[in-house]
This record gives sequence, C-alpha cells and structure tokens, in this order.
Amino acid sequence: MKDPRNEWLSAIAAAADETALAAVESRLFGKKGEVQELLRAVSQLPKEERPAAGKAANEVKVAVEAALTARRGDLSMRAMEQELSAHGFDPSQPGPQRRVGSLHPITIVQQELVDLFTSMGFSWQDGPEVESEHYNFDALNIPGDHPARETQDTFWLDDGNLLRTHTSPVQVRTMRRFAQDFQPPLKVIVPGRCFRAETVDKTHEHTFYQMEGLVVDRDVSVANLIHTMKTCLRVVLGRQDLKVRLRPGFFPFVEPGFELDVNCPFCHGKGCSVCKQSGWIEILPCGMIHPNVLRQGGIDPEKYTGFAFGMGLQRVVMLRYGIDDIRLFMGGDARFLRQFQTVPK
Ligand code: PHE
Repeated sequence: MKDPRNEWLSAIAAAADETALAAVESRLFGKKGEVQELLRAVSQLPKEERPAAGKAANEVKVAVEAALTARRGDLSMRAMEQELSAHGFDPSQPGPQRRVGSLHPITIVQQELVDLFTSMGFSWQDGPEVESEHYNFDALNIPGDHPARETQDTFWLDDGNLLRTHTSPVQVRTMRRFAQDFQPPLKVIVPGRCFRAETVDKTHEHTFYQMEGLVVDRDVSVANLIHTMKTCLRVVLGRQDLKVRLRPGFFPFVEPGFELDVNCPFCHGKGCSVCKQSGWIEILPCGMIHPNVLRQGGIDPEKYTGFAFGMGLQRVVMLRYGIDDIRLFMGGDARFLRQFQTVPK
C-alpha cells in the first residue's frame, strides 16, 4: 500500500492561509477524501494483511490530523498578529492598569483606634445620627436654657429632632441599655459622624467624625483616664515620647472636665508656630462623668464613677499626617485621597 503521508504533510505546511488550509482539509477528509480512501482501501486487502495495514493507515490519519490542527493554530495566530500590527498594537507594552481604591485617612485611623480599644477590652457601640433633643442635650446635663447649647450650632429638623452635634448622646443610651443588669466595668467606644451648622474654613466642617469613649466602674479615677489617653495617643500618633497635660475645660456632662494637650511633635516642646510657642497642642476634651449623667443612665453615682472623652478624628488624622486643611477630607479630590494607599481590610 502506498504511503502518501509526506505529500499530505507538505500540502498542509504549504497552505499559506486559513482558506488554503480549509481546502487541503476537505481534499483529505471530505467525502471521498484521500485519507478516507486510504482507510477504505484497507478493507479491500486480504484478511491477513488488514491488521498491519489498518494500524499503519490509522497512524497516518492521526499524524495528518495533528499537523492540520497545529497549522491552523499557527495561521490564526499569524492572522491576529497581522491585524494587530496593522492597528499599531504593541504586545510588549503593559496593559491598562486598573486603579485599586484606597481607604480614606479617617477610616484608616478609625480602624486603628477600634483595634486598639477592643484590645483593651472596649466594645463598639453605635447610635443614631438623627437624635432627639433629650439625648443630645438634656440627658447630658444641658437643659434648654443652658448657655452651653450656644456653642453647638445645631441642625434642627422640622419634627423637633436634630442631627447629633457630638457622639456623647450615645453615653446615656449605652448606660441605659446596660443599667438593668449592670455588670461593671462598662467600657465602650462610639466612632461616628456628627454635624454642626458651622461656617466651613480650614479648621471647621459641618460634618465631622468623633470617637467617644466611656468607662464606668468602681473607683475609676483621673489617673485611669490619663493612662488610657496616653496609651492610645502614643499608638495612633506613633510617638513613644508623647506626654500629656490636662487643663480645665468646661462641658456640662463631665466634672471635672479637661482639655487634654500633647507635647508638640514639631518642636518637641520648645515652642514653634504650630503650637503657638506653647510647646503643647490641644488634642481632645475629656473628664469624669457628671453624677447627673450617670443617674440619667440609671447608674448609681454613689457606687460608680467613670470617665469620658470625645476625640475629634479629623484633628488626630491631621496631626498624624501633617494635613493643614480640614476641607480636604470631604473635598473629593482623588489626588489627595490616593496618597493613603492602604489596602482595604
Ligand atoms: N462631646 C463634646 C464635644 O463634642 C466632647 C466631650 C466628650 C467632652 C466627652 C468631654 C467628654 O464638644
């Protein structure tokens, strides 16, 4: 039996494009195709010759099929390359890069603070952004005629509710939730969004973030407050040399109330323009929870004491990254936001 394999393989190799290859294929495998004929010829042979001839013919068929497939792959690749180079496509250039988003700097710092405080046994509480006058003011020892209301320019709603001006209303909400079966210590943090009808400038925003902290137990003292604040600020500001100082500060829901300062990171206490030559930077207000507020929360002030602090997150973020304009946080400028390339958790 003749073996035309080489002739067939060279016909396949010689097919210059996909159309030519299709013609070769139909010549070989179509109806009355030459390869089919070869297989059919085997059945005409004397019986003893058929097994060997059948095997040989089948090998030819397999080899020719493989050559066809390989050639088809080559030709289609070449056709694609030709088409792409006609459009000036350069496969050695990197592909378009997909931009991965990044966390907002306030989120980064908030997550770090939450991690830190939960590691110290605090739990995270939430409260409503649309708050009642009662929780935002009265329950915090700020009745309607109290001058302290003047310092919080509130967005009032038509139904008498308001947009909370601070996260402190969650203090009393939390105490009430736990009061029935009070198991000290109560240790919570409340990160959240707050609103004030402020005129926006470099240091004021109408929408801002606070993180309230609250601890109630037997024998809680100012020393506990100082220790907690020092530990937390050392971590978020990344400064082991950080010192704190308390000055008196007035908030009706704490007694005594304080403004807590940290030694200036820019001049290390010597005095510079950032700290207005004082060596200290005001960072957050805090104090011992007023007995009236504990009572509002259903907790007996004769048995328990506690401290609270209200951290302005923007302020901490600004100090940490050296940002000098609070409006950048909500300005929507992607060039600002892209600088904080922390991979989202
Ligand atoms: N809620 C107060 C404010 O926003 C801050 C504060 C919180 C002060 C807790 C003392 C204790 O101004």
